Amino acid sequence: MEKSRKKFADIIDKAMAAANTMDRDELLFSYKGILYPVTFCSPEVFRAMESLEARSDDIILAGYPKTGTNWVGQILSDLVAVFEKKTQNKESSVTDEELEEFPYLEIGDTGKYERMNKLPSRRVIFTHLLPENLPRSIFKNKAKILLLIRNPKDVATSFYHFSNSMSPLPSYETWDDFFVAFMTKKMPWGCYFEYLSKWNKYAADENVMTITYEELKENPLLGVKNIAAFLGISLTEKELQSVVERSSFQSMKKNSQKTHGAFGNILFRKGGVSDWKNLFKEDQNEKMDKAFEEHIGGTKLGTKLKYEVYCKA
Ligand code: A3P
Repeated sequence: MEKSRKKFADIIDKAMAAANTMDRDELLFSYKGILYPVTFCSPEVFRAMESLEARSDDIILAGYPKTGTNWVGQILSDLVAVFEKKTQNKESSVTDEELEEFPYLEIGDTGKYERMNKLPSRRVIFTHLLPENLPRSIFKNKAKILLLIRNPKDVATSFYHFSNSMSPLPSYETWDDFFVAFMTKKMPWGCYFEYLSKWNKYAADENVMTITYEELKENPLLGVKNIAAFLGISLTEKELQSVVERSSFQSMKKNSQKTHGAFGNILFRKGGVSDWKNLFKEDQNEKMDKAFEEHIGGTKLGTKLKYEVYCKA
């Protein structure tokens, strides 16, 4: 495995090994009312994060866990790398130092943000955080934000399987137990409906673009083209097509030993749409539809998701 990617996998391996020695009720801690895994996050790191100096050309990928952040992160990093190579004849704007930083903003050590402040542009930063918990400079300096959303039923399904394979997260004996936890704000990184409701306030901003997992899955080339246009990245049809190919589920899964280590076997599960139908009972389906309406019905994000989820499913 390449040196830089090895570090990424090492951080996850270490978190998993540490979690294996812990009791289930020690795995999460609460910060500003939201739960996070202790083996990945800490209050000290959250406080240090405020020192990040965001730039107007930063690319922030905002997505709740299991919405496809590793997938879209691959697309963004690849678009930037191909464009820089083409326009500046640089091999890649992504240096070894940058690759060594864990791509999720909130995971790392307290010195991470000072190091990030020295990295060259364009930086691609992933995050699962609520907007109110991000460094203020992201909004003040109008960094570009790509907001990734996915059908809440598929998010819950993916999160259930992930929780039962990832030792840093509490596991669940049954799907029914997990469903209750998902609906009652017991998830690490908070409640997905609250996440959508809070991000809704930013969804119409000019520096924010929203994309659904489902639309990207249905027409990846169009999705990648729209993302590139939003970022001001101009590439040929052939170049865009190669970005799509390198980010397909099959290619990413095949390459995952190199990019994600053993964690790849957990992460790249099914990569599809509507797997929720294999788990949800009728009353759970109804409960989730009701929660959807209560939290985000009629809003910008709610309407976009509803179209993808109910009209096309
Ligand atoms: P499933 O568990 O439904 O398969 P995240 O990266 O935010 O943790 O999201 C993980 C989800 O995205 C998983 O969903 C995973 O399989 C899916 N995924 C990862 N890479 C993908 C790709 N290239 N295309 C489609 N889905 C992908």
